[in-house]
Amino acid sequence: MLDAQKTIHLADYQPFTHLVERVDLTFRLAPGATRVLARLHLAPNPARPGRHPLRLDGEGLRLVACAVDGQAVAPALDDGGLAIAAEDLPEAPFLLETEVEIAPEANTALEGLYMSKGMYCTQCEAEGFRKITYYPDRPDVMSRFKVRIESDLPVLLSNGNPVGSGPGWAEWDDPWPKPAYLFALVAGDLRAHSAKFATASGRPVDLHIWVRPGDEDRCAYAMDSLIRSMRWDEEVYGREYDLDVFNIVAVDDFNMGAMENKGLNIFNSRYVLASPETATDDDYARIEAIIAHEYFHNWTGNRITCRDWFQLCLKEGLTVFRDHQFSGDMRSAAVRRIEEVVALRARQFREDAGPLAHPVRPESFVEINNFYTATVYEKGSEVIAMLKTLVGDQGYKRALDLYFDRHDGDAATIEDWLKVFEDATGRDLSQFKLWYSQAGTPRLQVAEDWQDGVYTLTFTQATPPTPGQPEKAPRVIPINVGLLNPNGDEVVPTIMLEMTQERQSFRFEGLAARPVPSILRGFSAPVVLERDAPPEERAFLLAHDTDPFNKWEAGRALAKDVMAAMVLQDAPPSPAWLDAVAAVAFDEGLDPAFRALCLRLPAEDDMAQTIHAMGRIPDPARIHAARRALAGALAIRLGEGLVQLCRDLDEGAEFSPSAEQAGRRALRLAALALLARRDGGKLAAEAFAGARSMTEEIGALAALLDAGQGAAELQAFADRWGGDANVMDKWFALQVGLAAPGEAADLTERLAARADFDWKNPNRFRSVVGALAANHAGFHHLSGRGYRVVADWLLRLDPLNPQTAARVSTAFETWPRYDAARRRLAQAELERILAAPGLSGDLREMAERMLAAGQPA
Ligand code: PHE
Ligand code: ZN
Repeated sequence: MLDAQKTIHLADYQPFTHLVERVDLTFRLAPGATRVLARLHLAPNPARPGRHPLRLDGEGLRLVACAVDGQAVAPALDDGGLAIAAEDLPEAPFLLETEVEIAPEANTALEGLYMSKGMYCTQCEAEGFRKITYYPDRPDVMSRFKVRIESDLPVLLSNGNPVGSGPGWAEWDDPWPKPAYLFALVAGDLRAHSAKFATASGRPVDLHIWVRPGDEDRCAYAMDSLIRSMRWDEEVYGREYDLDVFNIVAVDDFNMGAMENKGLNIFNSRYVLASPETATDDDYARIEAIIAHEYFHNWTGNRITCRDWFQLCLKEGLTVFRDHQFSGDMRSAAVRRIEEVVALRARQFREDAGPLAHPVRPESFVEINNFYTATVYEKGSEVIAMLKTLVGDQGYKRALDLYFDRHDGDAATIEDWLKVFEDATGRDLSQFKLWYSQAGTPRLQVAEDWQDGVYTLTFTQATPPTPGQPEKAPRVIPINVGLLNPNGDEVVPTIMLEMTQERQSFRFEGLAARPVPSILRGFSAPVVLERDAPPEERAFLLAHDTDPFNKWEAGRALAKDVMAAMVLQDAPPSPAWLDAVAAVAFDEGLDPAFRALCLRLPAEDDMAQTIHAMGRIPDPARIHAARRALAGALAIRLGEGLVQLCRDLDEGAEFSPSAEQAGRRALRLAALALLARRDGGKLAAEAFAGARSMTEEIGALAALLDAGQGAAELQAFADRWGGDANVMDKWFALQVGLAAPGEAADLTERLAARADFDWKNPNRFRSVVGALAANHAGFHHLSGRGYRVVADWLLRLDPLNPQTAARVSTAFETWPRYDAARRRLAQAELERILAAPGLSGDLREMAERMLAAGQPA
């Protein structure tokens, strides 16, 4: 591992010295010694005049042979690649042939070519291709790939279209030029779940989902999601699929969720396989969203890719935005929006408020793998949502059409992206661009004024400093606002107020009475609205707001106020809040999914973030106790109505993963969990025994564990599902996630000692170690045991799989918000990590950035 880490800067961008006109690859697969033969048809790049040496990336490769135009050459080799001097290269197009040997079996980092349960598989984004062969491993080098695979395994797949196969070999040709990060290869004993699709213009496409034998019958929902995604992208964006086949492969060992390789998406098996008995409703929703996400990348990412990794949000922000739109169209848009915002606050606001804060388009990095973040993805999507709000639906459509027209086949930048909006709508987006370059979540304050029939809202924006960015300029913030009458009628329907200054007022005239404002409807900008509204106003909006997001938000804000008062002032649970929630919970006119969301209390980490933003130090133990007390009070307030809810929603209907049924199950399980606090889990135990779906089974088990029951059921679950890794991941994660603060670390260690704790598998690692990190009061327990156990496991995983170790390490990103004792403990663990011999560059960068927050400025 390199010791001196190199920082890469956006400002240093230069095109590559050469063009790669074509690539022919041959793979002779063998677990311990795979040979990769590469023929690169290279030419000097006119964008880089003059003679240049050829420098190719390569890591962990054993070079067997190297020739230029058929003549053997001996390139200079170092840890990062090879170089051939300019004098040794023709000034005209030439052929470079290399042969290397690699050992997929020994690849535990799951980057490059690796093996998972006897199957060969690749992962090349961001910089994994250089672990397969010598190549200019950067996204702006796009080329046509032909691939030959030699192996005795029955299924041999790569990108593009199949062009030939025989016993022990197969050949693939991808007609679309692509960067190396979209390369993929799979070989294994796999079974297909297949279907056919015809594009709008009549191209027939064979669709296959490849899984291990026995899993074929769990692919139907993923296939259905794929077909709906393909149709949706035609109807909404006018984008058709462009190959004869589309393959998806499910693999159990995968660092991330899924990967959009051209024509050959590779998925973490947990985001493909589903049946009612094994997948929860949340799993179904996630499968639908991720299948869509990866499919949508075919246009936003593959046909138009990124010039360099600083532009990652160009493909990720846009593709997340598109998958959000799709899920909103497939399901309840209001419920989806609430869930998106809950996730945004839990992950992105948390990131933006801590030492790892960075702009949507970072300007420098050490390890690009560390920038696949909530900021790039989720905030990147919110920025596009704001653009769409600002330019309107028609403007957005014109801009996107222009984007595809102008940039198809390009490796593009954020400048290109914004330019199409400027050209299509005539707007100047220079101030808007700050959303891409300034980190941190803006705080928005509101003052109201009511005089002589004129109502004025005055907003003030301020963004706290973030690492490397002490000063912030005011941004463009689209604020969707509606006004309600005191009797609950809407008097001003949603309008967009466009804020561009630090402080700005907006006037409303012609109102008969002082209105109640509903501000930031639909969460029209990723900001923190700091408005100290009286509880009556929040309760009023919870009851009357016509904007479903703000209706929920009012209840959420009220819950946070109540919990904060319990934590900070020892206040009792507020009866006004209890009444308001009861009214929603029993309102049969409302969508059950929405009612379930209103019964969900703010997460403990979210409360810690909120209390910290109030300028106070959050105490994890008190937050935990307050949340439990509030749930207990709610259970009492809702009373026998909970039993009724459970009965009413207990349908005998045949299972469907539909959003409608999922919403009913969510409400029933929310009621069941509250009831378990009163009846000792009697009904939950019945529900567990009679469960007809994994949603019910795991939901009932969670209710039992939360009530301090469920030992027998835990055992029964393990007996039943011991052979299914994806289901057992839920079993591990649930227990650790719900463990009492003082027990979470010990439980983690006990579970980690089990034979089935296969810690080299990223899903299993996250379901145990990641679950401890997510158990707020357990991780931050004053004993320091939570910090220690997580750090121990990070250090153990790091030499094998630095990427996953670095991702899980973000557990520590909130450490500066806590008290001195906890800070000392967390800091000591981060220092212990940094001092470890042989630490990876990935984990080192993370630990250094997190520690820097503790140093005096
Ligand atoms: N590009 C993948 C996605 O969003 C994520 C990914 C990144 C997967 C890096 C693997 C490695 O959709
Ligand atoms: Zn993506």
